[in-house]
Amino acid sequence: MKSKTLTIGFSEVDRPDQLDAADRELLEAATAALPNSYSPYSKFKVAAAARLEDGTIVAAANTENAAYPMCICAEPNAMAAAAALRPGMPVVTMAITVKAPTQTLNTPASPCGSCRQILSEHEGRFGHSLRLILRGETGPIYVFDRAGDLLPFGFSGELL
Ligand code: THU
Repeated sequence: MKSKTLTIGFSEVDRPDQLDAADRELLEAATAALPNSYSPYSKFKVAAAARLEDGTIVAAANTENAAYPMCICAEPNAMAAAAALRPGMPVVTMAITVKAPTQTLNTPASPCGSCRQILSEHEGRFGHSLRLILRGETGPIYVFDRAGDLLPFGFSGELL
């Protein structure tokens, strides 16, 4: 049996002012969307800001439901809003941030598995990378060049 290792590359900066202006603006848009979270059950706010290929920014937050499995994560909400606004245009970058109810999160928030699958599909559909900018409430910022890097061995439409 051969042992194999997978390495995921990403960049890290300590503060938003170390991002370029466009990425900083996107992270600010995500942060500004946190109050739009409807999360009466978890009280955990997540917001995602998508930058489309033409530069447009669309932001959305998580939207919960009394029937818990129906909760909609911030990331697909932002992807759907982007698709409604500019049908057929790829999202090129997404900034994601969070606000927890009882603690200050100082490590980057990472999209859940289901969100990763949606973001990966988008990359495959458009043949375009979707960069991710992740931040907790404070602390370092992680930048991934491709959303698919966060979903190694994900299920792919190429199998169908
Ligand atoms: N949530 C997101 O919005 N995105 C994720 O990637 C993970 C979780 C939301 C769902 C729920 O409203 C709350 O965070 C707690 O799980």
